Order: sequence, then C-alpha cells, then structure tokens
Amino acid sequence: MTRRSVTASAPGKIILSGEHFVVHGSYSVAAAINKRVLATVQEIDGSRSRIVSNDLVSHLGSDDGTFLGVKSIARSIISNVPRKNRESFEISIRSEIPSGAGLGSSAAVNVACAAALTKFVGLSSKEEEIQKLAFDGERILHGNPSGLDVQASISGGLILFKKGTLIEKIHLERPFKLLVVFSGKKRRTSKLVAKVAKIRERYPNHFQRLVDSSSASSFEIALAAKTRNMEKIGSIFEIAQANLSWIGVSTPHLESLIEFLYQKQEVLGAKLTGAGGGGSVIAVIKEGSEEPILRHASGSYPFGFVTEIPEEGFRWEK
Ligand code: MEV
Repeated sequence: MTRRSVTASAPGKIILSGEHFVVHGSYSVAAAINKRVLATVQEIDGSRSRIVSNDLVSHLGSDDGTFLGVKSIARSIISNVPRKNRESFEISIRSEIPSGAGLGSSAAVNVACAAALTKFVGLSSKEEEIQKLAFDGERILHGNPSGLDVQASISGGLILFKKGTLIEKIHLERPFKLLVVFSGKKRRTSKLVAKVAKIRERYPNHFQRLVDSSSASSFEIALAAKTRNMEKIGSIFEIAQANLSWIGVSTPHLESLIEFLYQKQEVLGAKLTGAGGGGSVIAVIKEGSEEPILRHASGSYPFGFVTEIPEEGFRWEK
C-alpha cells in the first residue's frame, strides 16, 4: 500500500550585510544558497506521530529537548485540525546544510516542515502562514530573532530586509557567485544575540552608529549587487567584518580563515556570515576564480562550496 506523503524543501541562507544589527533595527541583505532542507510528512500506523532526522527519532509528544522548533510548529498546526480528522504521521528531515554553521539550517528546517505539514493536514499553506509558523519555531530556538533567516528561506533570491519586513527582493540581471567556507566550529545563535544585546547596553551611542552604518552598507550592497560591482561588495564586506569584530562576534579562528582567503589576490572581500562565534565565512571572488579558491580552502577547512543565488525559496517537491 502506498502511503500518503507530502515533501517540501527550503534553502539555507547567507547574510551579506547586517547580521546582529538587524535585530536592533538595521536594514540587512541576505541571499538563499544552493543547499536545501527536505521535509517529508508521511502517514503512519499507530497513535504516535514522530520526527526523524539521520539517526535521531523523537515522538511529537516527547519533551526530550530535541526538534524543539519543529515540535512546536507541528503542535500548533495540529491544534487547528478537528480531532476526528487527525492522523499519525512521520516528519523526516534531510538536510544538505550543516547545523550550527550560520547557514540558516534551522530556519530552512522550520520552513520546509511547516510547508509540508500544513499541506499534509489540508490547512491553508499560503506563504504568510508558513512564514508565521516557521518564525514561531525560530523564536523557540533563538529567543529574539529578526525573522531574516526565515524570510530568506521563504523568498529565495537576494533580499533587502528590516526586522519583520521584506523591503525588496532584489532583481539580479545576471546572478553572481559567492564562496562559502564553514570554519568547522559550531555555535548557538541565541548566545551570540544575547552577547550583542549586552554590548549595546554598555555602549548605546556607539552601537547605534554601527546600526546606522550597517543600514548604509546594506543599501550599498543592494545597489552594488544590481550593478554587479563585485569590488564594491568586497570592500563593504571588509567594513562589515570590522564592525562585527568590534561587537565581539568574530573569533581568532574566523579571522585566520579570512586571512587565509586573503592570501589569494582573487579574493575581493570576506566576512563572517550569520551569528558568528564560529560558523561560516563568505567571500566575493574575481569572476572565474571561484573554484580554484574553493580548492585552496577545502584543503584546510571541513566544508565549503560555491553558491549562485537561487531565485527560488521554499517549494513543494513532486
Ligand atoms: C542569524 O542568522 C542572524 C542574526 O542577525 C540573528 C537574527 O537576525 O535573528 C545574528
């Protein structure tokens, strides 16, 4: 007997400008990446729905500390289904994005699961609904998120964003490529967001200037992306990296990864992306030299890839 199932997928993200400052009101620019999370919801026998990813299995009713975001999303969806129509299901999650790497894996998991499960139970699966569910899941995981990761995963493409609002999906005449290198060090976004809030309390005026500077950089990046001015994007990455370092989210390990990339003159600019404290670095590379620079990095770091900016956000899979 074939079992009824629904599969949805959603991309991870990189942040080109405005991470952390976006939580405090800055404009920011983020892009989807060519790595996705797939979530399949399938009907199962028995009365206990479950979530499965790699070797980890947890029942929806269990408070064992796993899949916190997905469980909260699933419970919220089910609460809108009349009892007599509820069936047991398994959500199985497959991800191409390492977790804790600053590449939006948790947002992509939440978006893909919310999209697959709303459709599976026959509720409205409009973009706004999926976004709201996924954002609620992010709040459980990260405390005070801006919504940027969820928005990038939902919309795809390159976006200009301000807390809670998509300002613009930036149209690119010709997509460009960016290099992404995972430093190998995982970290928790919520801890770093809390650390930055303390810095802001301590230096409110200086911090506000950095928020404003981050907004200006975001507008410049948006324009440079439209006009394909890669040198400009690279130089804004350098400024962004200095500001992120000042608020304490860079690390010696990330700085040395950035220095390592700068050994190659084809690297036009590099910065940490996402919450920092570990995680990943992105770099703008002279067109055509992306693959050799990736090979240069791959010898010393565990995971890297070149991404174009895919236009598509979440989608249902056949
Ligand atoms: C994390 O990917 C980005 C942060 O700015 C947090 C947020 O926007 O919610 C650090």
